[in-house]
Amino acid sequence: MKIKQAVIPVAGKGTRFLPATKEIPKEMIPIIDRPMIHYIVQEAIDSGIEQIIFVNSTHKESIENYFDRNYALEKFLESNNKLKELELIQKIGTMAEIVSVRQKEQLGLGHAILVTEALIGHDNFAVLLGDDLIVGTPPCTQQLIKTSAANGDNPVIGIMDVPKNDVSKYGIIDGTFINADHKTVLMKEMIEKPTPAKTPTTWATPGRYILSRDIFDYLKQIKRGAGGEYQLTDAINLMCKNRSVFAHFFSGKRYDTGNIFGYLEATMNFALNDARLREYSIELIKKLSKELP
Ligand code: UTP
Repeated sequence: MKIKQAVIPVAGKGTRFLPATKEIPKEMIPIIDRPMIHYIVQEAIDSGIEQIIFVNSTHKESIENYFDRNYALEKFLESNNKLKELELIQKIGTMAEIVSVRQKEQLGLGHAILVTEALIGHDNFAVLLGDDLIVGTPPCTQQLIKTSAANGDNPVIGIMDVPKNDVSKYGIIDGTFINADHKTVLMKEMIEKPTPAKTPTTWATPGRYILSRDIFDYLKQIKRGAGGEYQLTDAINLMCKNRSVFAHFFSGKRYDTGNIFGYLEATMNFALNDARLREYSIELIKKLSKELP
């Protein structure tokens, strides 16, 4: 099955990033010279996705505008002979087919996925959370698509191992490895933000999923869960009691750019891995460290 659609929910309030998110969508905050959402959309495209469905809310128009053409700017760059810049922004305006749907009330990630129901075809689709950056080759979503294809086109959730004390920040899954390489798990259950004392494993789900259309049936059955929100975790938990759902340890470095610590780590690492900035960043870090009181 070819997976052509990806849902990227960006309707959240981004309270951990206030005051910036008072006026700027969290996803439009840049890492070096491009907004976080650019990297997420790039991952989807590099994984073979053809259509991106943003779940957005009021004051998030700038995300759609970013991926649209800006003819006035293009004209300006052309007439000023800034052809490299022109090519760059034209490329962004044509990188993917973008569709968007409003989530009128922020009732949780499960609800955000549910509002895409009318836009999703019969095939499986990917979900990428807008504030989790995962860097690596092959891209994380492509690894999950491959795992789904190798396992009867069933849903697959991306997982990573976390320290036990951190389990209460994540949806945690339980299950059994399907083969000796200890990378793919047949899921038994998924629990939203368990306490370290009660968690069955330390296998956390940072925000990459391949889902099948029947997820909508489960999303309609769930009640408000943790934090008073409709949790995608609860729907996945119901789903894995009725059909095979897999989880897969993806390779790649993940940054939680929804909080200032993960954001700072991503920014510093991106600078250190950018040929234009590498030497400068190293010297700058040394200089600033020396100048500390
Ligand atoms: P978060 O839990 O990070 O929530 O949502 P948030 O509102 O973005 O940020 P904080 O916690 O207040 O700082 C995870 C993802 O789900 C989306 C968010 O946009 C984010 O990409 N989301 C969450 C929605 O689209 N709708 C919702 O109702 C909730």
